[in-house]
Order: sequence, then structure tokens, then C-alpha cells
Amino acid sequence: MLENTANSRNTYDQVMLPIYAPADFIPVKGQGSRVWDQQGKEYIDFAGGIAVLALGHCHPALVAALKQQGEKLWHVSNVFTNEPALTLAKKLIDATFAQRVFFANSGAEANEAAFKLARRYAITRHHPHKTKIIAFHHAFHGRTFFTVSVGGQPKYAEGFGPKPADIVHVPFNDLDAVRTVIDDDTCAVVLEPIQGEGGVTPATTEFLHGVRKLCDKHQALLIFDEVQSGMGRTGRLYAYQHYGVQPDILTTAKALGGGFPISAMLTTDTIATAMETGAHGTTYGGNPLACSIGCAALDIINTPEVLAGVEKRHDIIIHALEKMNQKYGIFHEFRGKGLLIGAVLKVEYQGKAREILQQVAEHGLMLLSAGDSILRFTPSLIIAENEITEGMVRLDMAISRWLNQ
Ligand SMILES: Cc1ncc(COP(=O)(O)O)c(C=O)c1O
Repeated sequence: MLENTANSRNTYDQVMLPIYAPADFIPVKGQGSRVWDQQGKEYIDFAGGIAVLALGHCHPALVAALKQQGEKLWHVSNVFTNEPALTLAKKLIDATFAQRVFFANSGAEANEAAFKLARRYAITRHHPHKTKIIAFHHAFHGRTFFTVSVGGQPKYAEGFGPKPADIVHVPFNDLDAVRTVIDDDTCAVVLEPIQGEGGVTPATTEFLHGVRKLCDKHQALLIFDEVQSGMGRTGRLYAYQHYGVQPDILTTAKALGGGFPISAMLTTDTIATAMETGAHGTTYGGNPLACSIGCAALDIINTPEVLAGVEKRHDIIIHALEKMNQKYGIFHEFRGKGLLIGAVLKVEYQGKAREILQQVAEHGLMLLSAGDSILRFTPSLIIAENEITEGMVRLDMAISRWLNQ
């Protein structure tokens, strides 16, 4: 009889598919950038639900949208359209290069749609052999079979049988490597403008401009996966807007719903014509509940106040990390843009990120890693300055304890 026993971290090991190794505590309440666990212990949240909670926990405007729409209309399926979906699509179009929107529920699904669209466009508008997808080492695009296959971390795609074919991986930020493999049979080049899971590595400007030119030369589509780098995380609504390089397809998720599952694939009128009724779909994608929360999140994030605040908070975090590093000397470098920051551990501490994170949690701070040697910061875009300061004090204490244990 499991049902009537109290839930604890041990329950996880008994009832859940063993694919994650969650922290020892169970969060039960969040407000802004603070979280409380079952025992009432308070945490400062520098993890932001992995770059999802751009407006922190339970932002009043998102809660209001949830309640209002929750009492009106939750779901109609794709057999009917709905007002919040149309409004959110128009907002995304107004704010970006795009003219067409497809809604789904997760980053992986938006990418799955993007890859299918790119293949379909190339096959129907060019020729049937134009199917090659060029992607990058360390890239992460989600966990469906197509997206793990396009992702550049083979361990995620292995052990599941034959993979989708005609996908080539080359080193990130290496234009010559792209030049070597791209040809007229290439349907798309897929990249994260800032690789998140793979190590918080921003693309260089020259690389993105170069890839854009190569795509144009070979009539290949350029797909930007902005699932993590999008929705204000870098201080612009989308990271491509920093670089001045426009993709043909862009995927967005995570912060789009501020914690409510929703994702979108954005593209142009011309490319969208490759799809017709029945060519792709999802039951929940674009449901009114998710879209009204997406509208509320976008309205707040896409404002000069919120976007300008990102850079300011970036500087405060980097400054604090640099000071900490003068004391402890454990970081080799800090990288990333806006509030997607990676603190790379020195060689002698390689592989230790998880151990450090355990100490960090014990000191009342939620933080992430990217791989096993980088600490990753993806807090709310509107985290208060005093919360950053307090979080940094906790981090400092955790590192000191870890080094001295
Ligand atoms: C760049 C990028 N693409 C895709 C995904 C997958 O998104 P989801 O987990 O919502 O499927 C992630 C998730 O971390 C991501 O960072």
C-alpha cells in the first residue's frame, strides 16, 4: 500500500521511472525567486526551473491569467482554433522575423516539428535527396528520437535501435567544419545560438554570419533552437537579435509559458507552405490555457524594463563570481550571455559539479550544472538584487565548506 504513505524523496526511487537523480529535498512552494521544501527550509532559486521561470515562481500576472482562463476554456483540441492561441501567435509574429507559428508543448516537440518541416520543405521544393541535417557536437535539442539524434551528445541517442539517418555532426563555432560537410543535399543547419546543456557556449558572431551565408549558398534552412536562449534570457527577446542573423525557423519553449508547458516553432510564409492539413499535429499544442499564460509572460518579458534588467543582473552575478574566485580560485572562466551563465571549474575540479551542487542545496541555494564541470546560473529575469547577493553568500559558504570538507 503506497497510496497512503507520506511522500518523501525515497518515494521517488520506488515509483518513478529511474531516469533522473533529483536533489534530496522536495520543493513544495515558490514565490518569486524563493522556494520552500517539505520541511519549511528556504532556498534562493538560481536554477529557475532550468531557464523556464523567467518571471520567478507564481508571478501574479501569470497566476491571474491561469485563473481567468482556467474558469473560461481549457482545451478544445486542434479541431477548433481558439482566441488565446491566435493572440499569442500574433504577438510572436510582431516581435520576431516570423510570419507563421506552430504551437506544441515542449522544446523537443517544437524541434521535432522544425526538423520535419525542414525535411519536407527541401524534399517538396528542391529534390528528394535534400535531407542532410548538419548539427553540432554537444548540442541539445530534446529527448524524442529525432531530437536526440540531431543533438550532439551520442550517449542520449544510443541504445534505442536504428536512428533517423542523414544527420552529420561537426564542432560548434567551426565554420570550416560546416563548409566541409554542407552541400546541395543539405536541408538544414541546426544550432543553439548559445549552447546551454552542452556547456553554456555562445556562438561567435562570425560563425553565425558564416553559417547563414553557407545556408543561402546551398539553399539549406537555418534553424535556431532558442528553447533555452530565448524569451529574454540574453537581454533581447531572442538571442538571434543580438547577432543580427535571422534564422528560417526558430523554436522557443521553456520561458514562453513561465512554467506552464508550451512551445512554439516560428517560420516564414514561404517555408510554411511546405505543410498542408494533416501533415503534422498535436492534441494539446496551442491550447487556450497555455496560450493565455504565454501571452501574459510575453507581455511582461518583452518590455524594455525587463530586458534591460537582464544585463544589469548579469554584471552583478559575474562580479560576485569573480570576487569569489579571487578567494577560492576554483573557476577557470565565466561564459554565457545575460542570465544564462556558466562558471567553468578549473581542471583540478573537473567532474565535481554535482558534488558542489549538493553542498549548495544544503546551504539553501538551487543551482544547476551543465555537464559535470560547469555550474550554470539561469535565475528569474526579475530576481531582486538582494536575492542575488544573498544567493551568492550562500554559494560562497557552500564552496568554502566543500573545499574544506
Ligand atoms: C536548447 C534546448 N532545446 C531543446 C530542449 C528540450 O526541451 P524540452 O525538455 O522542453 O523538450 C532543451 C531543454 O533543456 C534545450 O535546452
